[in-house]
Amino acid sequence: MTRRRRIYEGKAKVLFEGPEPGTLVQYFKDDATAFNNQKKGIITGKGVLNNRISEYLMSRLSEIGVPTHFMRRLNMREQLVREVEIIPIEVVVRNVAAGSLSRRFGIPEGTPLPRSIIEYYYKSDELGDPMVSEEHITAFGWAGPQDLDDMVALSLRVNDYLSGLFLGIGLKLVDFKLEFGRLWENEEMRIVLADEISPDNCRLWDVKTNEKLDKDRFRQDLGRVEEAYQEVARRLGILPEG
Ligand code: C5P
Repeated sequence: MTRRRRIYEGKAKVLFEGPEPGTLVQYFKDDATAFNNQKKGIITGKGVLNNRISEYLMSRLSEIGVPTHFMRRLNMREQLVREVEIIPIEVVVRNVAAGSLSRRFGIPEGTPLPRSIIEYYYKSDELGDPMVSEEHITAFGWAGPQDLDDMVALSLRVNDYLSGLFLGIGLKLVDFKLEFGRLWENEEMRIVLADEISPDNCRLWDVKTNEKLDKDRFRQDLGRVEEAYQEVARRLGILPEG
């Protein structure tokens, strides 16, 4: 493999310079962190599974017209993506109460929400990703009103599509986090889905048993973390080769 220049290293992924201008190679690590880096660990094989799961979900979304940064998977741990300017906002969509929403409002985990709820968090390790409002986002210039409209519309489409896709394989999409980037093509800017979609940033519960098949197994020390990610891949029909 050719040696590539490292552009950015995050908690679960590394971005390298891509083979052509405007492309990057996204490498999936086995490292796992939770609670703003206070808990660290390794989930053996996670990177391989997330690379494959994210490839699958981004490809399906692209087929229904959701623009994404994903181009193609290169190997077990790497995928080629378009270089975008990441918008420093995490968009969380929730269908069922869990995690920080349950803690913040005292709503028992598993309570269905009256409608899907969108939340925004400002991406900042130093500040611990604080929750922010649309007012903060536009006033501080992290995204413009049109960017935000696009992000919300895309997030709701992703939620509708993925909720159905997961339900079809016996999984409830409880909540998930998305990131977006700006992509320039011929002097035109589009907002596209970036980062990854995997059990690292979705909550997925078995429809019948409510068993957790996502990163909460790591956060809550439930054990069998890799097996859970493997089960999601198995149900999607995409277990990695080898
Ligand atoms: O912790 P919380 O309940 O706010 O998480 C909501 C959803 O967003 C979960 O699916 C979680 O995995 C995801 N998330 C994430 N990255 C973060 C925070 C939350 O992927 N930094």
